[in-house]
Amino acid sequence: MSRHAAVVVEKNVVIHKAVIPVAGMGTRLLPLTKSQPKEMLPVVDKPAIQYVVEEAIDAGVQSVLMVTGRGKRAIEDYFDHSVELEHELEAHGKLDDLHAIQRISNLIQVYYVRQKLPRGLGDAILQARAYVDGDAFAVLLADDIIDGPTPCLVQMEEVAHRFPGMVVAVMQVPRQDTSSYGIIEGTVVAPGVWDVSRLVEKPDPAEAPSNLAIVGRYILVPGIFDAIEHTEPGRNGEVQLTDAIQAMLPKTKVYACEFKGIRYDIGNQMGLLKANIALALERPELAGELREFLSETLETLFD
Ligand code: UTP
Repeated sequence: MSRHAAVVVEKNVVIHKAVIPVAGMGTRLLPLTKSQPKEMLPVVDKPAIQYVVEEAIDAGVQSVLMVTGRGKRAIEDYFDHSVELEHELEAHGKLDDLHAIQRISNLIQVYYVRQKLPRGLGDAILQARAYVDGDAFAVLLADDIIDGPTPCLVQMEEVAHRFPGMVVAVMQVPRQDTSSYGIIEGTVVAPGVWDVSRLVEKPDPAEAPSNLAIVGRYILVPGIFDAIEHTEPGRNGEVQLTDAIQAMLPKTKVYACEFKGIRYDIGNQMGLLKANIALALERPELAGELREFLSETLETLFD
């Protein structure tokens, strides 16, 4: 048994709990997010957060904790039963609609906790301490929709089973963009898997140790809570999760998983648009007409 055995994800452990922080202000999407949570913005035919919850379910997660804040009640309502609406649909014989909305309420057990002030992602995760209660757990950011052949969290679980430790999802970004991400340094231990030796939050391109950027999926161990508590606020006065993970090295192993798939950052306008177009083009019932519309529009604009 390794000397880290008490703090790593044990071989073959399945992650049953996930934390989804949704307490951010979503300022990059204003005015869209003035009176509605960005997590509820539509991506094709469902709110962004549903993609993330469904990814967690696909990975075997049995309950999620949402860390909410001011103005996020629409998320709670969405995953709850809507008694009046269900009654109305039943009375009018709209059974397909009724079953569709009931399916959402029955997707998974959802718990909520408030982050009283938006003090950063690290502080949001700290609110999950009681819920996590000693288990390894996943964190999924609802801003990041990841579309791939296998759900990103499943790919990360496979890495955790081969390389017990914490796991962060990474993707390659252009060098000039490193200052928008947490960036890792590490050595390759398998195709697409790095043994991480350092994490740096938003480094300038000249100082970035690589172009491997952390995106919104993590497998963490409960030791992260003490690490967050001892982490000084970084940029913007926010407590950064990346800094807390860095503080756990080298005692706790951290692996980076370069996932197969495309990540859409729906927290900015371009990412939200791209997610809507790309995911609609994957839907047989929408793809044909949308493709036609896009090519006609491009022709009209550039003729
Ligand atoms: P972001 O920085 O992308 O979200 O945080 P934001 O603060 O909502 O975005 P902008 O910059 O104002 O547009 C990443 C994730 O962490 C959550 C956010 O909800 C998002 O899912 N978060 C961030 C919190 O839950 N609490 C915080 O204090 C900060």
